[in-house]
Amino acid sequence: MRIARTVGELRAMLAGAGDVGLVPTMGALHEGHLSLIRRARDAHGTVVVSIFVNPTQFGDAADLEAYPRDEKRDLDLTREAGVDIVFAPSAREMYPEGFATTVRVTGPLTESLEGAGRGSAHFDGVATVVAKLLIAVGPRAAYFGQKDAQQLLVVRRMVADLGLAVDIVACPTSRERGGLARSSRNVRLSPSDRERALAVPRALEVVATAVAQGERDVADLRARALEVLLAAGVEPEYLAFVEPDTLEPVREVAGPTLCALAAGVGGVRLIDNTVLSPGPQAEERHTIEEY
Ligand code: PAF
Repeated sequence: MRIARTVGELRAMLAGAGDVGLVPTMGALHEGHLSLIRRARDAHGTVVVSIFVNPTQFGDAADLEAYPRDEKRDLDLTREAGVDIVFAPSAREMYPEGFATTVRVTGPLTESLEGAGRGSAHFDGVATVVAKLLIAVGPRAAYFGQKDAQQLLVVRRMVADLGLAVDIVACPTSRERGGLARSSRNVRLSPSDRERALAVPRALEVVATAVAQGERDVADLRARALEVLLAAGVEPEYLAFVEPDTLEPVREVAGPTLCALAAGVGGVRLIDNTVLSPGPQAEERHTIEEY
């Protein structure tokens, strides 16, 4: 496995590489990242993992400061996973002196949900850095987790609008025992907060079960989810039922519907989601007992 610190080094390493898959990360790798790497490993001759804690997508300096970092462990994990190249640039390499370009996806995709809570500048940071990574690596496909459902939509919109020749592959959310969605931030949860955080996947599960049993009314589904969350002392920042491609709010689960929620637990911001489907496939979804 080779490590590139600059775009120049990366391009030299990739010269002549045919079919490249990219897994963009901010490090602090966990099983969720490894599942993306496995998907890429199965599909491409060359796998590149980028490790870059992107400062422009953090609204809050304290959150950026607290973001977990362990490059040595990340490099051990990527090596074991059979990654060919790790691209781990410095902030100065990604944002050189005088940097003045922003890639901005406008409208509800960036202004609602995470954009409303964190400010739409969050997605400016994501779109800009992902565009730079795609341009630097030139992959055939790039792999993203469905946990960040809104990020996926923003990246897809950006790729379509800029006409970038890359497939954006959505991979299922990886979950810990009990169903908590894997996130680099989970290491900051105390044991008791981790227990409380389980209310997040449980609330989604309660909603999905109600839909499978025929409930369609979003007001009722919201009340059921809130009951689970509030019983655990978890106050959601948002609990949204939206159309999965446009993020337009819906009042009724008449077709595939994204139920997305964000909540702070013990100072750690958690997000999770599930796609509700009123069709028979709703019965086939995974239950949290399986994790
Ligand atoms: O999902 C992430 O880890 C980040 O938002 C990403 C896509 C690597 C961009 O910094």
